[in-house]
Amino acid sequence: ALRRGGPGDGYPAVKRILVTGSNGQIGAELVPYLRERYGAENVLATARRRVPGPVSEGGPFEILEVRDGRAFSGLMGSFGVDAVIHLAGVLSARAEADPQGSWDVNAGGCFAALECARERGAAFFFPSSIAAFGPSTPPDGTPQVTIQRPTTIYGVAKVTGELLCDYYHLKYGLDTRGLRFPGLISYEAPPGGGTTDYAVHIYYEAVSQGRYTSYIAPGTFMDMMYMPDALEAVVRLMEAEPSKLVHRNAYNVSAMSFEPGQVAASIRKRIPSFEIDYAVDPVRQAIAASWPRSLDCSAARAEWGFAPKYDLDAMTTDMLEKIQKRGPTAGSGLHF
Ligand code: SER
Repeated sequence: ALRRGGPGDGYPAVKRILVTGSNGQIGAELVPYLRERYGAENVLATARRRVPGPVSEGGPFEILEVRDGRAFSGLMGSFGVDAVIHLAGVLSARAEADPQGSWDVNAGGCFAALECARERGAAFFFPSSIAAFGPSTPPDGTPQVTIQRPTTIYGVAKVTGELLCDYYHLKYGLDTRGLRFPGLISYEAPPGGGTTDYAVHIYYEAVSQGRYTSYIAPGTFMDMMYMPDALEAVVRLMEAEPSKLVHRNAYNVSAMSFEPGQVAASIRKRIPSFEIDYAVDPVRQAIAASWPRSLDCSAARAEWGFAPKYDLDAMTTDMLEKIQKRGPTAGSGLHF
């Protein structure tokens, strides 16, 4: 779907990329990453609001509400888009507070974006999630193809997105591709209202307070990945040889599986006095308990060479260094 150079395998080189949800945790890093790789002028960042910084100032930027099909379609035409990276969405815990509104954004937005991609025959990337699984899914070594009966509205919309992407490929031949992301840990832009967010907050509080109160209970394992590995995974998948993509949409990807006590232990190797305690949030704990403990990522490795680099300790070292460099006030406003 994406090519940096000229024609390789008969698929046209993608020249123009539109990203939705560009101010979010993934978008804030993926937009600069794509601009660096494919040329700043070729990556149109869109979001509901203009926020000063690299996303709105480092290349083309437009305000876009993803459910506004007419405006979306207009931008597709005027920018000459041939790949859509559709990131806009409401995360899991926040979605539970407004199931109807978040369905509208998460499922309605995905449908609107796919329709715009169909009109132009543009390639399409959709970020699914470990949330696409539920309590009846095998939780350990969760297979690529398995039971998907999520119990959150966010998860229901993610399964819908996966199925819509399959459908648009089957019915219209659209080059849809996707990943099931685990919890993503990063320091550029905070996540908002997710269940895995504790694994981001803990690093900020380790630097600013030397301690952290976790809303996720000890012993709760979830899949996680450091943002640099997530960015590389998106590009590897989008540049992969189409004939190799057996599963095409919704590849399981994860770099590690841990519970809060293990992150605390990893932080203690750098900050020995760090302390963790627990004030469990029943909503987010129930969501976490319904998700897998560790994904089987063999399809992603075999079909397009998924190869994450960061384990827990390598990520901890990098996160703490980056946050320390920014100063203790960064990350305030992180809490959901
Ligand atoms: N990290 C996300 C969340 O917690 C899962 O997709 O909502």
